[in-house]
Amino acid sequence: MAGPKIAVIFYSLYSHCLTLAEKAVKSITEADSTAEVKLFQVPETLSKEILEKMHAAPRREDIPVITPDELTNWDAYVFVIPTRYGRAVSQFSSFFDATGGLWMKQSLAGKYATVIASTGTQNGGQETTTLTTLPFFTHHGIVYVPVGYLDANMTQFNEIKGGSPWGSGTLAASDGSRQPSEMELNSVAIHTKHFASIVAQTTRGAQRLAKEKEPGASLPKAVAEHQKDPTNASTSSVESTDSKKKKKGSRFSVHGITKGVKKLFT
Ligand SMILES: Cc1cc2nc3c(=O)[nH]c(=O)nc-3n(C[C@H](O)[C@H](O)[C@H](O)COP(=O)(O)O)c2cc1C
Repeated sequence: MAGPKIAVIFYSLYSHCLTLAEKAVKSITEADSTAEVKLFQVPETLSKEILEKMHAAPRREDIPVITPDELTNWDAYVFVIPTRYGRAVSQFSSFFDATGGLWMKQSLAGKYATVIASTGTQNGGQETTTLTTLPFFTHHGIVYVPVGYLDANMTQFNEIKGGSPWGSGTLAASDGSRQPSEMELNSVAIHTKHFASIVAQTTRGAQRLAKEKEPGASLPKAVAEHQKDPTNASTSSVESTDSKKKKKGSRFSVHGITKGVKKLFT
């Protein structure tokens, strides 16, 4: 069975989110060899002059830039987002704004997402960055997967650490001098492995359902044969059992079940 297809999508001005995104790709790949994982960055919206004034790190030209349509090719997304004023950086908002065509068709409904956040300070938006991005997921029908308290270090007080039950994260310091710590990178691994396992469960479940949808695959032999050819006298017992049950007023007639199964899988 094919593994989950997960796109790791980031924006990064000073490399913190790039480091977290690369860790996410590595962790998912290590955890599930069947997973297809690819790194993308959202389009830059700032001019060269402004980027220079902000002392931005050189952009990684080797990493592909995500387009809205590309989203349809993946089962799930790990968004790695730097905070601006407690919410997602505007480059992410602009990208989300460009997905209107997909929203119209609800093309992303049923996909999965999770967020890794980077903030300059401890209370600057680790949680609110994700919280304020939820409306994007909700309007598209995308399912948000949090990490909860799976990382035991969530409750430690020995060192400062980014992340929250919403997702892992890093604290970059207000001048960007702090790099993601071992503890934070470990948290990213726990978070993204968990995310990948949830996505794998659903994609494999969907593949199984699709298999069952193949003619007669999961139905009792008699019912399957009857479905294939309802006029065949040798399978008419199905029909007669059904009418007998109907007469008794049973809600669980064979015909009713097959109709239900048909409804479910078509
Ligand atoms: C305009 C601006 C606004 C910011 N607002 C916040 C903020 O509200 N809270 C916070 O903790 N950090 C804030 N930061 C710090 C960034 O979140 C930090 O630089 C970023 O997470 C580093 O990630 P990166 O190296 O991947 O870009 C801000 C930075 C800039 C440039």
